[in-house]
Amino acid sequence: MRTVYINGEYVAENEAKVSVFDRGFMFADSIYEVTAVHRGSLIGISQHISRLRRSLSEIGICLKLTDSDLQTIHHQLIERNQLNEGLIYLQVSRGVQDRNFLYSDAPLEASVVAFTQVKQLVGTKAATSGISVVGLPDLRWHRSDIKSTQLLYACMAKDEAKRQGADDAWLIRDGYVTEGASNNVFIVLDGVVVTRELSSLLLPGITRDSILKCLDEADINFVERPFTLEEAYSASEAFITSSTSFVYPVVQIDGQSVGSGYPGPVTKTLQHLYMLQVSENV
Ligand code: PDD
Repeated sequence: MRTVYINGEYVAENEAKVSVFDRGFMFADSIYEVTAVHRGSLIGISQHISRLRRSLSEIGICLKLTDSDLQTIHHQLIERNQLNEGLIYLQVSRGVQDRNFLYSDAPLEASVVAFTQVKQLVGTKAATSGISVVGLPDLRWHRSDIKSTQLLYACMAKDEAKRQGADDAWLIRDGYVTEGASNNVFIVLDGVVVTRELSSLLLPGITRDSILKCLDEADINFVERPFTLEEAYSASEAFITSSTSFVYPVVQIDGQSVGSGYPGPVTKTLQHLYMLQVSENV
């Protein structure tokens, strides 16, 4: 049985209760973060806290907890649950109020929940052999830069990908790939790594940012621009990044092999460099 954090308390998971009037429950009026834990240490916690604050401010949720409180919650959860490898999920919702589209005049007390989840992050089959993806329309709202818990379309897209025999979905808006259902996407075209530039249409991934730093340091050419699915079909390599996958090679898109159909050299180099970066911070 896990120990979870809920509104100032650490309790057994079956004792943690959220009100049915919580706006997160009724309107997905809440923000979340997922931070990886490797060898018992957090990866990029300050970046996750900064992004949490940005998302909260974009939708006007007030959070009384300080950055140091948030760090303590994460560390306490690792310790209390003896977590070695996995993730910490943190969710902040606007709070509890009778059902009303309008926010209450007085700011509500935000509800804060956090828990650990065991997950193998290193040496997975997806990381070593790669995954397959299918392109699907991006039917999400236009503020995907906000990490809100409004994830129904991501669930639907992943479910549709699974039905089509693939591991994940790449979302297409106006002819260009925005991002994966829960990750950022990259292709390698004519020796140049291409990933879409940040905008309100995609999440500013913490892992994406680390990978751009790795590319810079390793002197690998890259460009931030939108790309089409057709460009992805003709890429020599493709990969996705997220806090819980690190770097997964993408070896098949819409049933077509990417390059050789096996994880390529640029992707493998980035997996290696990313792990070095993680080990330095752990
Ligand atoms: N998802 N894009 C989307 C839509 C995401 O949901 C995520 C992360 C990313 C990658 O961001 P980061 O590198 O900061 O994890 C990009 C998390 C892991 C999730 O929802 O479980």
